Amino acid sequence: MLPLIQTLERRTLLAAVSVQIDFTPSSTPAPSGYIADNGLAYGNRNGYTYGWNVSHSTDAFDRSPGSKYPVHSTAIYMKSSSGTRYTWDMAVANGTYNVTVDAGDPSANVSLLIKAENTTVVSGTTTSSARYISTTKTVSVTDGKLTLSSASTTSRDPIMSVKIVTAGNTPSSSGGDGSSTPSTGQVTGQKLQAHGGDIVYFNGLYYWYGENKDAKTYLQSTIHEPRVDVIGISVYTSTDLHTWTYEGLALKGISTGDLAPGNVLERPKVLYNASTKQYVMWMHIDNATYSMARVGVAVSSSPTGQFTYRGSFRPLGLASRDETVFEDTDGSAYLVFATDDNNSLRIARMTSDYLYLTGQNVKPFTSSSKREAPQLFKANGYYYLVTSGATWFTPNAAQYAVSSSVLGSYAIMGNPTSSSNTYGYQGAYAFRSEASGNWYLLADKWNTSSLGASTYGFMQITFSGRNLKISAPMSWGLSVK
Ligand code: DGJ
Repeated sequence: MLPLIQTLERRTLLAAVSVQIDFTPSSTPAPSGYIADNGLAYGNRNGYTYGWNVSHSTDAFDRSPGSKYPVHSTAIYMKSSSGTRYTWDMAVANGTYNVTVDAGDPSANVSLLIKAENTTVVSGTTTSSARYISTTKTVSVTDGKLTLSSASTTSRDPIMSVKIVTAGNTPSSSGGDGSSTPSTGQVTGQKLQAHGGDIVYFNGLYYWYGENKDAKTYLQSTIHEPRVDVIGISVYTSTDLHTWTYEGLALKGISTGDLAPGNVLERPKVLYNASTKQYVMWMHIDNATYSMARVGVAVSSSPTGQFTYRGSFRPLGLASRDETVFEDTDGSAYLVFATDDNNSLRIARMTSDYLYLTGQNVKPFTSSSKREAPQLFKANGYYYLVTSGATWFTPNAAQYAVSSSVLGSYAIMGNPTSSSNTYGYQGAYAFRSEASGNWYLLADKWNTSSLGASTYGFMQITFSGRNLKISAPMSWGLSVK
């Protein structure tokens, strides 16, 4: 006879979810931005309820321990060596979810068939040039559990990771700066997606523009650097630099051309041109191997967009990668860009409509200084140019230069921080608080295994004579005043 009362299982049920699980042996920790699944039986751990119908941690493996990109070096077989299939569940509220599964074996070509809720997510055979398959499908959950199962007849269906996101929840995930939840504001419970961006003040409101990187991070096969496909440029607004409201994508990626998913769209910066009454966005446009090296320009009559993309070009005919813009107090504006294969930077004056360059320019650092991520601003009567070294997404020592005229000669001043790696960050933009007059550096803390989980810091900039100092980032919960 069946028992009348069934044992109730304790589950952590989440109303809106955005979680990434890395299947990994317990000897290899999950990378930042992921929670680990070591093959244990279904249960409560890491704030979620998930796991396997049977504990089978011996089926988890790591093909290259110590790898810089661990998500795709570890996996767990969904079928035992004797052919028993395992199923995996995560407790979620009934509803619709976007499920992304990465599966494969970095050391072998395998034929895969992995399902979520009976919808086939991954189906196909890996090859030596693509040792994993990543696919997203939308599935519906009606029994309080999202279930993954496997059905390949020829392989043991090694699964590397799964990302589960409540459908329609954009931008997804939790934590205002990716590591903690802001104490107030409309972005509470959502992760800010505004990387490599700027914070500018237009008509009583701060606007924070930046790259939306809320997509899968993968290693580009030629240059071996992490990337995400182009989504677009997010914009957030704030009255106090503390509470941010997501306004949507000010510039959206499109299926072809410069803004196509397979390209690079980085470091957007926005100016307002008082004579044309247009907001003008400059950005780095590139292909996936960074050999296109151009700047793009987009315009809008409203600061939140939609911005209309005008096209891209090589400034002064030169290759251009990291860039920023600067508007001087006399209304003239400048593009600062990394050039000569990131060996040097140029500051180039824009035309009065901020859409082109006049040709006037200066090279503030020497030709072999390897500077990028520039921020140019005027404070304390001087023009300051703060830069990072050129080590892709790995933090390095900042260096700044100072001049008494924007296109004049710059004195190289050294590292303005008390850190040899800019406290683990890379500068994005220097801005001034309207309330206090204090200067801050908005900076990115890149997470190379999950670029969308990269976080931000505000570092205070202080001046003494023509010297400047940049302090360690303030904790996110502090209001910048
Ligand atoms: C370093 C730059 O500063 C970033 O904006 C980005 O372009 C990465 N390189 C790409 O690796």
